[in-house]
Amino acid sequence: MKKPRIVVANWKMNLDVHQASLLTHKLADRIHVYRDVEVVLAPNYLCLQPLSMEIDRRKFRLAAQDGYFIDEGSYTGAVSFSQLRNLVHYAIVGHSERRRYFSESLEIVRDKVTAAVRNGIVPILCVGETREERNLKETRQVLHDQIVSALSDLTGEDVEQMVIAYEPVWAIGGHAPATPEDIEQAVNWLRYQVSELYGEKVENRLRVLYGGSDEPEFVSGIMGVEGVDGLLVGHASLNAEQFADIVEGVHIASLSED
Ligand code: 13P
Repeated sequence: MKKPRIVVANWKMNLDVHQASLLTHKLADRIHVYRDVEVVLAPNYLCLQPLSMEIDRRKFRLAAQDGYFIDEGSYTGAVSFSQLRNLVHYAIVGHSERRRYFSESLEIVRDKVTAAVRNGIVPILCVGETREERNLKETRQVLHDQIVSALSDLTGEDVEQMVIAYEPVWAIGGHAPATPEDIEQAVNWLRYQVSELYGEKVENRLRVLYGGSDEPEFVSGIMGVEGVDGLLVGHASLNAEQFADIVEGVHIASLSED
């Protein structure tokens, strides 16, 4: 059976509870239920509880944008994966904005991936090189280090359920995604790392997404890349029309593979 495609809306630090609810209603009107595409909404923590009561579960699943790696205790301001466990299906972990603005090291990302899995939450692990690393031709080394360290506490059974998102930092927040050739090279390399560690069966089951300036016009090109199973969408996910078009584009690309 073909793996369902996934489209994740990473709303980042945008929208209050009321705005998130309005956008979810607009999306629910525009997005059809496609059996081959899973649509995942990743709002801020505050919106998770109210949205969990509002969403049509045939249409949407929820993801947290982060989580803390210790389950409970005196960690003021933190929200743990154990507190999120009955609320979300997925959690984004190791987003480049967290690595950059919140100084998340390889070890912290590893501990968060492990904590998500321990609490029954599927991690969407983000990996990707900065522009400087790309210019220095360090992309492969960076992806290798990010993947090997993040997965180091997991079994093959854990990893085959996971999602890894290739998000080149230099392509985030603009209107020009990486080219299909760049994406193909990175995704092949990333999949190769997983198959070296856990074997081909795990690598085949794992879902790999692309994120970075995903907009409707680029969907067919990106989804045409072998090994890409979906998209992690930032700014375009805040616009109901654009996001619905992206979901539809992923569905069309999936149909054309049959
Ligand atoms: P943009 O789609 O705004 O480039 O953001 C991508 C991203 O960071 C998703 O996690």
